[in-house]
Amino acid sequence: MAILVTGGAGYIGSHTVLILLKYGIEVVILDNLCNASHKIINRLEKITNKKLIFIENNIVNRICLKNLFKKYDISTVMHFAALKSINDSLHQPLLYYSNNVTGTIILLEEMLSANIRNFIFSSSATVYGIDSPIPYCETNSIGHTTNPYSTSKLMIEFIIRDFVKVNPSFKAVALRYFNPVGAHESGELGENSTGVPNNLLPYIAQVALGRLKKLNIFGNNYNTPDGTAQRDYLHVIDLAEGHLNVLNHLPKIKGYKVYNFGSGKIFSVLEVIKIFEKISGKKILFEYKPRREGDLPSFWADTSLAKNELGWQAKRDIYTMIRDMWNWYIKNPNGLN
Ligand code: NAD
Ligand code: UFG
Repeated sequence: MAILVTGGAGYIGSHTVLILLKYGIEVVILDNLCNASHKIINRLEKITNKKLIFIENNIVNRICLKNLFKKYDISTVMHFAALKSINDSLHQPLLYYSNNVTGTIILLEEMLSANIRNFIFSSSATVYGIDSPIPYCETNSIGHTTNPYSTSKLMIEFIIRDFVKVNPSFKAVALRYFNPVGAHESGELGENSTGVPNNLLPYIAQVALGRLKKLNIFGNNYNTPDGTAQRDYLHVIDLAEGHLNVLNHLPKIKGYKVYNFGSGKIFSVLEVIKIFEKISGKKILFEYKPRREGDLPSFWADTSLAKNELGWQAKRDIYTMIRDMWNWYIKNPNGLN
C-alpha cells in the first residue's frame, strides 16, 4: 500500500514525503512541476537513499490518474497540489479556481471510481476570513475570504464535506495550515522559491542574500503592539510530521474532519526581522508601505483539537524555523533552479 502525494515536489509536500519515507511508508509522487523542480526529487532520493516513484503530470489529467490508480496500490491521497500565491490569485482568479477547485473535483471523482477512500487535503487558515474571532477554532464559521486563492480552499472544503456526506465510506481530513516556514535541518531541502517571493521569510532571506535591496513592510498601522501584522508561524517539519499523525488517526475518523495546524504563537513582522537579524548576523533594510490587499492584522490557531485528538503539536520554535531556513538559503543561494 502506498500514499499518493500530489504536489509532492513542492515545499510542504516534499518535506512530508521525507517524513513518510523515514517511517517506512511507500510514496508515489504526482506533480506537474509548475512550481517545483525535478531536482527536489533528486534531493529526496539523495537524503533517503531510495529510488522514488515520481510521475510528472497534472491532477486534472484523468487518464493519468486512472492509470496511476490501476498501477499502484494506493490507500490514501495526500493532496498538496495547488497554486498558492494570494497575490497572483487576485490577478488570475480563473486559473486558481480551475487548477485548485476543478483539479480537486477530478481527483475525488477518480478516487471514487478507483475505490480509494482516504483523503487528506491541504487547506489554509485563510478560510476563516475577515470576521472570524481569534484565536481561530475549528468550530468558527468560515467564509468572507479576501482573495480567490483562499476562496478556492474554502470551496474545496465545502465540496469535500458535501461529497463525504453522500459517500459515507469516505474519510476526509482538511488541514488548515497557518504559516509554514523553515526547512529540513540538512539544508538539502527547503522552499525553492522562484522569482520575487510573496511570503515574508523568503523575502527577508533574499534581502539578506543581497538579491533584493530592502523589505517592504505592508502596513505599520495595524491594531497590534508594534503596528505590524502578526502571524502564527510553524516549522515545515512539524507540519510534515502532523500528516503522519493524521494518517495514524485515520482508522478512528468517520466522515469529514477539520484540524488547525499552527503553533498557537504569534510574531509580528518587526519581531520576525529582529530574530532573523540575530540568527543570520545580517541587517535587514526595510521600508513601510501601505497595507497589502487582502491581508489581516493578526491571527493564530487554537491548537487544542489537533493536540487532543491527533496527539500532535508544533515542537520547534521560531528560532529553529529561521535557523533551518537560513541554513537552506546559505547552502542553496540560487535555489535548485
Ligand atoms: P508549492 O507550490 O511549493 O507546492 C505545490 C506543488 O503542487 C508544486 O510542486 C506544484 O508544482 C504542484 N502543482 C500545482 N498545481 C498542480 C497540478 N494541477 N497538478 C500537479 N501538480 C500541481 O506549495 P506549498 O507551500 O508546498 O503548499 C502545499 C499546499 O499547502 C498547497 O495546497 C497550498 O495551498 C497549501 N498551503 C500552503 C501554505 C504556505 O504558506 N506554504 C499555507 C497554507 C496552505
Ligand atoms: N509581509 C510583508 N512584506 C512582505 C511579505 C509579507 O510585510 O514582503 C507581511 C504580510 O503583510 C503579512 C505577513 O508579512 O502581514 C505574513 O505574510 P506572508 O505572505 O508570509 O503570509 P500570509 O499570512 O499572507 O499568507 C500565508 C500563505 C498563504 C496561507 C496563509 C495561511 O501565503 O498561502 O499564510 O495563514 F494560506
